Amino acid sequence: MRKQIAAANWKMNLTIDKAETLLAEIIAAEINLEENHFAVFAVPFPYLQIAQRKIENTKNFFIAAQNCYSKESGAYTGEVSVEMLQSLNVKYVVLGHSERREYFQESNQFLAEKLNIALEYNITPIFCCGEPLSIRDAQTQNQFVAKQLEESLFHFSKDDVQKIVIAYEPIWAIGTGKTATSEQAQEMHAYLRKVLADKFGKEIAENISILYGGSVKASNAKEIFSQPDVDGGLVGGASLIAAEFITIINSLK
Ligand code: 13P
Repeated sequence: MRKQIAAANWKMNLTIDKAETLLAEIIAAEINLEENHFAVFAVPFPYLQIAQRKIENTKNFFIAAQNCYSKESGAYTGEVSVEMLQSLNVKYVVLGHSERREYFQESNQFLAEKLNIALEYNITPIFCCGEPLSIRDAQTQNQFVAKQLEESLFHFSKDDVQKIVIAYEPIWAIGTGKTATSEQAQEMHAYLRKVLADKFGKEIAENISILYGGSVKASNAKEIFSQPDVDGGLVGGASLIAAEFITIINSLK
């Protein structure tokens, strides 16, 4: 059974006090997660250790980093290695978010290197892909997103590629309040699964969780997550409000 994941991406938000309160409120809800349901919190680097300690005893809750560097260690001022994440017991890392691609010029090739090192250290990457509005308007989103997968993921073995979680985040739906319809999400997710099946085989593709991201909130999560190829969500704004995110976690199918 594929993992169903509600992943919070806090981005560059919250001070430590607010972050601790938010996590405490969500933990206090005592959500009883099924075996294949997971809640993941991608928190800013300075909060990783505190957040990790807070969720340690909560079943199927995990902490994620929002990024990592592609090198093992060394003179890379300001960067964070996967070995550091591993030493904090962090199990997930978000890679290739559209904001990293846009503001920090992260290319598919560079992301492939980050994915390599994350897997080497047994940290599960949540690999983001998704098209800008101009590409959607030109109706070339399938080719665009397939290329992101090809250039970052196609060098992996079948064994390794199944360790990766994919998040489809159409850029035009991020922080805009404009969600893809559940049909649009399903259509793209089914297409991505086909791209993965053509390369790695149907069985492997069936094992890979594909999350949807872009204006997911309490009021639309259930409908989006109910689509057969949508395995949960990567949530920005609504993950900063305890009640919203609790409902989103409870919307996993
Ligand atoms: P919003 O949920 O705020 O649209 O952000 C989505 C996102 O970028 C999650 O990574």
